[in-house]
Amino acid sequence: MCSIIGYLGDISATKILVSGLKRMEYRGYDSAGVATFADSQIRVKKGVGRVEQVNISTNLQTLPGNIGIGHTRWATHGGVNETNAHPHLSSSGQIAIVHNGIIDNYKELKEILQNRKYFFKSETDSEIIANLLQYHYDTTKDIRLSIIKTVNELKGDYSFVAVFPDGTLGAARFHEPLIVGVGKNGYFISSDVLGFIEHADDVIYPDNGEIVIVNFNGIELFDFTGMPVRHQITKISKEFADAYKGDYAHFTLKEIFEQPLTVLRAGENTRKELESFANAIKDAKQLYITGSGTSYNAALVAKHLFLKYGKKKIETIISSEARFYPDYFDKQSVLIALSQSGESADVIEAVKIAKNNGSSIFSIINSMTSSLAQISSISVGLNCGPEIGVAATKSFTSQLSVIYKIADMICDTQIEFDLQKISSSMNKVLGSHLEIQKVARDIKHASDIYIIGRGIHYPIALEAALKLKELTYIHAEGLPGGELKHGPLALMDSNSFVIAVNPNDSTYMDTLTSAREIKARGAKIIGISDIPSDVYNYWIEIPKTNESSYPFVEIIPIQILAYYAALEKDTDPDYPRNLAKSVTVK
Ligand code: G6P
Repeated sequence: MCSIIGYLGDISATKILVSGLKRMEYRGYDSAGVATFADSQIRVKKGVGRVEQVNISTNLQTLPGNIGIGHTRWATHGGVNETNAHPHLSSSGQIAIVHNGIIDNYKELKEILQNRKYFFKSETDSEIIANLLQYHYDTTKDIRLSIIKTVNELKGDYSFVAVFPDGTLGAARFHEPLIVGVGKNGYFISSDVLGFIEHADDVIYPDNGEIVIVNFNGIELFDFTGMPVRHQITKISKEFADAYKGDYAHFTLKEIFEQPLTVLRAGENTRKELESFANAIKDAKQLYITGSGTSYNAALVAKHLFLKYGKKKIETIISSEARFYPDYFDKQSVLIALSQSGESADVIEAVKIAKNNGSSIFSIINSMTSSLAQISSISVGLNCGPEIGVAATKSFTSQLSVIYKIADMICDTQIEFDLQKISSSMNKVLGSHLEIQKVARDIKHASDIYIIGRGIHYPIALEAALKLKELTYIHAEGLPGGELKHGPLALMDSNSFVIAVNPNDSTYMDTLTSAREIKARGAKIIGISDIPSDVYNYWIEIPKTNESSYPFVEIIPIQILAYYAALEKDTDPDYPRNLAKSVTVK
């Protein structure tokens, strides 16, 4: 949820840390801070707000030194204020830390350390790491030992980077991401390669349960028992060059517009994995599919597709609910996990529950170096490049692309979908974005938006509602049209907006009838369809395609609508309030 970064090298640390933090803000952005080491002293500056705001208000750039750590926060323990922002210093001020994750036993450890006269300023669980490292450093005077002793006492999921009294950087990884960059100007330790993408091509991916120490003598990696470990240095994939917004006003807009290309690239490099994936599913006795947020909505599309075209039943499980249903999983089951980041804690937890019960794990992921990739038997990549906008857009259609390819390999009935045609239909819809912007102007004052869709379009209605909530903060609800009469119709009046996801297929007449019923109650109808109707107050035209291909195409106008409505409401579409992209806490 938070982003952490450390740098040690031959150029000014703050510049590097600030630009790295800006790139990783998608991980959390309620406060930010930096600590640098120079002249045997650690100096900290931090504050509330986005990195640029904190940079301006505290003059981060004035911090001296070529060694430092930085952080962007998504608050879990303690309010959003300067004291709770990272970096945190130990009570003697000799060690500073930045932390991502949650320390479960911080209260117990805090009490023990307070009795030993170590003091705390913040309400965070993170500050415990600074004082625990300091305590072990005070007793051993050994950086390596103090980290080993600390990680063996911490319970929870975490990654942290610390600056020690001689300027050494020490970091540890336990179920949270941590990546080391090796560049010509120094070493980088970060939550994401985006933290140092401009400065280093060579990377090391430490495993879970490993420690990294970096100083001017070089880099050392070892496990939590102190045993040295070796890792190959690998090259960062070129796709990360996409991590710039270019001429687009926002990452979200850029990512929406990339979709005609990214749907084609999905799963492209992993034909062998796709086939093994498909074969394993074919033979599975029980099939489950899980995900969070947008990824869960893609899972619902998969459920529909496999049943309709392959007579294959898949049970969908919202990842955060899996802990309440451990008995779903046994040795006969296969769990498919969908996740853009591969780091969502809820997804990882669901996967672990299934794995502990003997189930096989297959995953569809964008970040192929993620924790989820490591615990899966087979992973297929979305290959859509970094998605920075917090609200998922291109990763959703890429997930559909991979799901369709796998379904096509195992389903008896042929699924009519041609990704080239889908891609050009997407382009057509994108071409009408200024028309959609006009509709956005009208919905900006709506207090409630309902989205209806039947059959395979119901998951799209859910995804549409999620996009509208995330980007516009308007209450939005996805519904199967048939359910209106069982309750929601009571909510409809002249203040309501209803989006009917209504392509001309087997669901068309049912959805149109629902739209008519709603209109009779005074609500305004936005029809997303390839054919016009007098029922619609607004018609957003999508190209004609076949029933199974519509989901790819019909989500595009809703993403655009949500994006422009966000602009109309003056909210930041890339960084919606209270949210973060990679939710690595449960
Ligand atoms: C967060 C994001 C959502 C995203 C969900 C799942 O909640 O705000 O946009 O859909 O995580 O993320 P994942 O990386 O697991 O697909």
